[in-house]
Formats: sequence, C-alpha cells, structure tokens
Amino acid sequence: ARIDKGGHRHFMAKEIAEQPTVLADAISRYLPAGADDIVLPEAIDFTAIDRLTMVACGTAFYACNVAKYWFEQLARLPVEIDVASEFRYREPPVPKGTAALFVSQSGETADTLAALRYCAGKADRILSVVNVPESSISRESDLALPIHAGVEIGVASTKAFTCQLLVLALLALEAARQRGEITAGELQDRLEDVRALPGLLNQALTIGDPVERLSRDLAEARDILFLGRGAMYPLALEGALKLKEISYIHAEGYASGELKHGPIALVDDHVPVIVMAPRDALFEKTISNMQEVMARGGRILLVSDAKGIKSAGDGVWRTIQMPDVSAFLAPILYAIPAQLLAYHTAVAKGTDVDQPRNLAKSVTVE
Ligand code: G6P
Repeated sequence: ARIDKGGHRHFMAKEIAEQPTVLADAISRYLPAGADDIVLPEAIDFTAIDRLTMVACGTAFYACNVAKYWFEQLARLPVEIDVASEFRYREPPVPKGTAALFVSQSGETADTLAALRYCAGKADRILSVVNVPESSISRESDLALPIHAGVEIGVASTKAFTCQLLVLALLALEAARQRGEITAGELQDRLEDVRALPGLLNQALTIGDPVERLSRDLAEARDILFLGRGAMYPLALEGALKLKEISYIHAEGYASGELKHGPIALVDDHVPVIVMAPRDALFEKTISNMQEVMARGGRILLVSDAKGIKSAGDGVWRTIQMPDVSAFLAPILYAIPAQLLAYHTAVAKGTDVDQPRNLAKSVTVE
C-alpha cells in the first residue's frame, strides 16, 4: 500500500500522532484481550539466564537504556548495555548464562548486525526486538520479537521507539514473573498500566499546541540541555538526540545528578534547560537541581504532571503538563514531549524534518 502523510505536514508528525493506535495494536499482539499472560511468539526461559547484554545504535540504544532499569528493577536481572560500534570491537567476554538482545528498527544496521554475529555461538540465546520481521537481525536471532510499528519513514525514529519500549517493558515483566520477582497481583496491576497506555498517549498528544508555541523560543537557542533521573535519564538523552538530529541545535542529555559535574558551567540565560520529571520518588532531588540552574539565571522548561508542576513552584520559565502515569510507564509517555519539542522546533527553524542533512534512516555500511 502507498504510504502517505495522512493530512500531516511531515511523516514525522503523522508517525508521532499515530502512536496511540500503533501501540494499541502492538499491545493486542502481546496481550490479547482477555488474556492474563504475556504472549510471546516463542517461549524463552529467563530462569536459565543470569545476565542480559543489550546492544543497539541511536534511538534503539536509548530504548535499551530505559529497558536496563526495567530488567534490573522488576526482574533483578543484571544488564549490560553498549552501542554496537563499541561492543563489536571491544570483544567483550560473553559468560555462560548470558542472553544477548539486539534492538533495531530496520534490523539491518551494520554495527548491530556485526555485534549479533559476534555473540552468536557465545551467548546462550540471541534475542532481538525489530520492526522489520524479514530483516537480517530478525532472521539471525533465536527469538525475534516484532514491535508492530508499521513502516516508519521519518529519519528521526518516533513510533518505533515507543513500540520498542513497549515490547521491552513486557519482556521485563515476563522475566520478572518467571524469576518469581513479581507477585501475581503486581503483575496484573502492571499489565493494567500497559492496557491504559494508548488512552494516556492520546491525552499526552494534546500538548501539541503549547509545545508549538514555546518551540518558537527554543528555536532561537544555540544550546539546549535535557535532564532526567532514573529511567527518565535515557529520555533526556533521546530528547537531545531528536532535537539535534532535526533542528541542528546543539543539545545534550544529562543525568540530573551529573549537572554539577560539568554541564552547569554552560548554564546562563541563553541556555534553556528541559527537565523531564514526572513526580516520582526522586522528584525532590530534581527540584534542587532545578534550583541550581535557576540560581544561575538558567531558564527551566519543566515537563511534569500537575503535582510535579505545582511543587516545583515559581521561577520555572515554562511548563508542559503531562497526564499522571505510573513510574513504570513514564518513559513511554514522556517520549511524546521529547518528540514534539524536537519536531516543532525544527519546523520553526524551517529544516527538512523528514530528511535531515547528513543522516540516513538505516546505516547499513560502516
Ligand atoms: C540511524 C537512524 C536512527 C536510528 C539508528 C539505528 O541513525 O537515523 O533513527 O535510531 O540508525 O537504526 P535501527 O534501524 O538499527 O534501529
């Protein structure tokens, strides 16, 4: 079928907007209506595995970064992550009991494929999370988990990222169940969270208009910092990546707690600091990081829920209010502001959003 922009100005806008529908479809594949269990295309025994090594490039690598928190916290499974271009050449030991997991939208990224081939014969299991089922990475895996995102045209990955996160979240829950790290009741609560996700994504998309307005100011900036803690730290990295890819504004993502170890030196009233922080157990610590920025004249853009925005108080430059969401799934929901901020800033700058300069959708050569 011919793929068109469906009335949107860019494929990226369409792909952002279709996330509630696409995620609902992906959820129905892994959590069919009425089922109490996660349904995988094929069984995998997580009790036979002691550690997980996750390897990817670009946005898929940031999905691995989020998943590390899930596998460690929910399933108590130690996780190692690396970008494929480092992993393949550092030739790391792959001890017995290792499952290696490769995440790739295209399934053809040269470095990721080479990392997979390095692990073949060494790791107990080769798993992959891919969008293209007939791709090389998919075919060369023991178990390939499709993300069901549909064709993604925009070079900057959006719906593939949230679908990768969804599949990884479900895989982490399945690992937690098998390893006896989650009670049946807790598991059902988490699965309820997952089922509620498309509705929350729909609500989150209503921030489009306010984001468009404030992006006109962001478009004036030369540098922008993104901060986050815990599983929101990779979202800060992804927000910065998206923004630099399509708006060409220099952006860096940092763990909020690392602010004082370097990036605070950049802060003045010309550098917007975007804080991705739902009100969670670590929120108070993030408030003190924001105060450090504001004390130096820095402009904070706080992306949080109503309670978080209220407790942050005055002095914050701008806010984006998000729906309440469980800490577990916040990284999926907060992908929406990360994507929309990059998109509207790029549109304000007049760049080629779907075909940013120097970038390719799929990097199949070294
Ligand atoms: C390129 C694309 C990114 C993508 C990365 C990894 O850099 O521009 O959007 O995240 O490759 O691609 P993959 O297909 O392996 O997910």
